[in-house]
Amino acid sequence: MVSRVIPVDPFDLVLFGATGDLAQRKILPGLYHRFEVGQMPDKARIIGTARSDMNSDGFRDLLRASMQKFAPDFKADTLDQFLSRVEYVPVDALGDAGWKTLGKSLSDDAVRAFYLSVGPSLFSGIAQRLHDHGMATPDSRIVVEKPFGHDLASAKALNEGLRACFEEHQIYRIDHYLGKETVQNLMALRFANSLFEPLWNSTHVDHVQITVAETVGVEGRGAYYDQSGAMRDMIQNHLVQLLCLTAMEPPSKFSSNAVRDEKVKVIEALEPVAQADIARGQYRTGTGGDGYLDHVDNPASRTESFIALKAHIGNWRWAGVPFYLRTGKRLRARESEIAVFFRDPPHTIFPNVGPLHGNVLVIRLQPDEGITLRTTIKEPGQGGFRLSDVALDMSFADALGDDSQSPDAYERLIMDVIRGDQTLFMRGDEAEAAWAWVDPIIHGWEERGDRPSRYDQGSSGPEEALMLMHRDGRRWRQIGG
Ligand code: BG6
Repeated sequence: MVSRVIPVDPFDLVLFGATGDLAQRKILPGLYHRFEVGQMPDKARIIGTARSDMNSDGFRDLLRASMQKFAPDFKADTLDQFLSRVEYVPVDALGDAGWKTLGKSLSDDAVRAFYLSVGPSLFSGIAQRLHDHGMATPDSRIVVEKPFGHDLASAKALNEGLRACFEEHQIYRIDHYLGKETVQNLMALRFANSLFEPLWNSTHVDHVQITVAETVGVEGRGAYYDQSGAMRDMIQNHLVQLLCLTAMEPPSKFSSNAVRDEKVKVIEALEPVAQADIARGQYRTGTGGDGYLDHVDNPASRTESFIALKAHIGNWRWAGVPFYLRTGKRLRARESEIAVFFRDPPHTIFPNVGPLHGNVLVIRLQPDEGITLRTTIKEPGQGGFRLSDVALDMSFADALGDDSQSPDAYERLIMDVIRGDQTLFMRGDEAEAAWAWVDPIIHGWEERGDRPSRYDQGSSGPEEALMLMHRDGRRWRQIGG
């Protein structure tokens, strides 16, 4: 199999917050990689902007240092060529300075993309200035980073601020999970194969487990994270997106609105979650290092670094099938997966083998992307008819070799912006629908003053999360198993 790189149209990518961590760690190194593989055409340019008063050479030096740190595999002469495409214009995001110079530096015949790698409080102000200075042409694109709001009200305000200056088809709300190769593969698995679809419903599926486990803690991000917690930071966006792709109806075509229409329907069908169906945790100080409270200002913080919950989708396909979502920091292993548990066989014809287990289809998102199907076989050999579980295991790296090396999520998403493809971006109504589901859950525990339980670093989360499953006669898949 041969990887194909199709160059995009010439573009001017204006990066706000260009000296910030995300820009230097992910976005600019990602653009370098796209340049290295030949996806950036000759006339493509990147214009960094931030408040810092420096010239283009100063910015290139900064970027060179960041590349050493975050993408040390670069080729020196290719990096020089890439840097010749990079410029810098100091701009005061909420003032007047720099906007005219920025406007003059844009070309008229290139795709224009404004990437706001800044906090959400700056989104509306920047959009307004782009509009006022005549830079927001009908064909230009604006890209905004997560978090897209803190609750439904703030998400609505952000949507209004952006839509005052840009049309919905110009707005690209990033959820980097949608740029991950295996997440997209979920759509291929479901809609490019006929095997799974007939089984993908409450008649055959017992339950679904979606896990995004991390080993990192909140170090260095305490100020942001303590205002968010796992519910806002991970569930409202990444895990809801995974749930949507798992549960949605087949779209009529692979177009941005057809796919997003189906995702919105899933979110809108999510039923309210009972507080008894939620387990929240906070990692404690231990042999693994500092605890959550050591990284945040509030020593009595009740913010969760772990959450597990049981969700139900109220529609014909999924009625009665629980979707268990779980995510947390400082857990046993870094592992993200979607596991679809099929119902147990209704009857056994094999005497004395005990209860049969259902099949489990596991889609591993990271690391070691691939697909596993747990099946039951006869144990080989003589001496009676015994059954055991084996996994039909496909690792994408083994199956596809070098072709399994896909671009980083950000690289993929930025190129989609230039191409004008919104399929892997959240639409405004989608973000609002997710907040509308999440808000009452958060209000519930805030009103009751619930504290998260403590859990050990390197564990699978608090005891309550295990109980959530045990009560239903089920078990979580082991993290790092
Ligand atoms: C981010 C969250 O959106 O996703 C972080 O803010 C989290 O808290 C990160 O660590 C996880 O992303 P990935 O790609 O490392 O799984």
